[in-house]
Amino acid sequence: AVNAVAGDAKKRQMDEFTKHENEKTPLTSYFGAKIAETDIALRAGARGPTVLEDFHNREKISHFDHERIPERVVHARGAGAFGEFKLHTPLTGLTTAKILTDTSRVTPAYVRFSTVNGSRGSADSVRDPRGFAARLYTDEGNWDIVGNNIPVFFIQDAIKFVDLVHAVKPEPHNEIPQAQTAHDNAWDFMGLHPQTTHMQQWVMSDRAIPRSFRMMQGFGVHTFRLLNEEGKSTFVKYHWTPHLGTHSLVWDEALKLAGQDPDFHRRDLWDAIEAGAYPKWELGVQIVKEEDEHKFDFDLLDATKLIPEDLVPVQNIGTLTLNRNPVDYFTEVEQVAFCTQHIVPGMDFSSDPLLAGRNFSYFDTQISRIGVNFSDIPVNRPVCPFATNARDGAMNHTSKANRTPYHPNRFDALPTTTPAQGGFKSYPEVVADIKERIHGPKFNEFVSQAQLFYNSMSAPEKKNMISAYQFELSKCYEIGVQQTAIDRINLVDHDLALQVATAFPSVKVGPAQPNHGKKSAFLSQVEGKNQVFT
Ligand code: HEM
Repeated sequence: AVNAVAGDAKKRQMDEFTKHENEKTPLTSYFGAKIAETDIALRAGARGPTVLEDFHNREKISHFDHERIPERVVHARGAGAFGEFKLHTPLTGLTTAKILTDTSRVTPAYVRFSTVNGSRGSADSVRDPRGFAARLYTDEGNWDIVGNNIPVFFIQDAIKFVDLVHAVKPEPHNEIPQAQTAHDNAWDFMGLHPQTTHMQQWVMSDRAIPRSFRMMQGFGVHTFRLLNEEGKSTFVKYHWTPHLGTHSLVWDEALKLAGQDPDFHRRDLWDAIEAGAYPKWELGVQIVKEEDEHKFDFDLLDATKLIPEDLVPVQNIGTLTLNRNPVDYFTEVEQVAFCTQHIVPGMDFSSDPLLAGRNFSYFDTQISRIGVNFSDIPVNRPVCPFATNARDGAMNHTSKANRTPYHPNRFDALPTTTPAQGGFKSYPEVVADIKERIHGPKFNEFVSQAQLFYNSMSAPEKKNMISAYQFELSKCYEIGVQQTAIDRINLVDHDLALQVATAFPSVKVGPAQPNHGKKSAFLSQVEGKNQVFT
């Protein structure tokens, strides 16, 4: 079992926090007194009132009363597993991060897969993007790639995330629908936001009904930076590619599974790991030199665009294996706290405005979801030594012997380290511009990559997409909303709009766009430019 026991620093660390109660351990109160009776509360006579003095009864019920914590505001339903990451192709010269340069290491890993929209108890096989949140417990700190199984996103700026999620979640008045975007508000939002056009195509494709978590790609989505010894920066996008291939359900299967086995995906992951059929992914990178940043027709900071592999190929550099199921779902899956801001020295962020908001939002939401000391929860602890000046806070259970929780101090306790000693250094990007609420001019083109995606599909995939649009839009009550959706589809492909519209007699399809049937400007540019940016 690969690294499941020996050498797995994360498992050894978590074992220290795991209570191994068994049938030989006597039942006690929460404070250690052995308990003689736990089935009948203390009462005055067989038919008399229950008395307040029964501390065991009160303790038992009271703890139960407080068992629930808030579920994640998005991605509430998920399943996680532990494993390891092994680099095979070092990114020598591009980064000082050892996880990406040292092939002798085996790094403990953890992944939580999720749906986005539904609550904790919703079905697994719904049409939705899937979360693919990966954590690598490196010797220099936790590195989280908090991605999805779709390489682009609905919106470009994190300030819109609140509107997006309010629109796609169940409608406020009737809390319908539970786990899908099949309702008026969702399609109203998408209709009013051209920036959603590309992601909408992916969500209406078979990608949004994966066959298994083990058969999904994962994408970091944003452009990140790598930093080398000289402080030189290179742009990077991350991809996870499953060894089992990428597979989808068909809609009919998805519908039946939602009834027959709503736990289909988490069961599949659990069973595969228990059976020793460990799922594996290749970590791939798309590397773009700093000086090539502006050579693309789109902006590298725009999360609604991908970098076509024709322009920048994906190079696989390491293998992720999931080989161990959690022992306790709540503490190890529900309380795991990923954040895009968890990076390690040798890496940095780009100025993607969606990423900037995420770097704030995850930490912020986790303070209310699990409390300000969530970094101390075993699944969230780094495996490397860690020491901070943080103090106190609710549920702080680590006694810190250090007397000087401030910096600097007379003992030189918890000294900072220079970059040469491994200290984190931000990339000194030159930013001199006017402060205002605008974004780059290339953020305003929304159709090319949606067309690229649509045209890449086979005939059966296109047919499935027509049915998907018809199903989702049929759940809308308002013709106006359906009309806006068809108008948007028509911008991507006239035939697609005509076919989807056959299910909606009251809806009109506008004329074909001037570019209909012609190769998009984008495609013409991609052709003949193969791998120019490698
Ligand atoms: C949760 C992915 C955009 C806020 C998650 C999770 C994933 C994810 C995978 C689940 C993490 C887990 O398993 O625990 C993405 C991707 C995005 C994106 C790929 C776009 C590229 C955003 C934005 C915001 C945001 C723009 C806010 C401005 C949140 C919040 C959670 C979450 C608040 C819940 C975290 C928690 O309670 O631990 N996201 N997300 N996300 N995301 Fe995002």
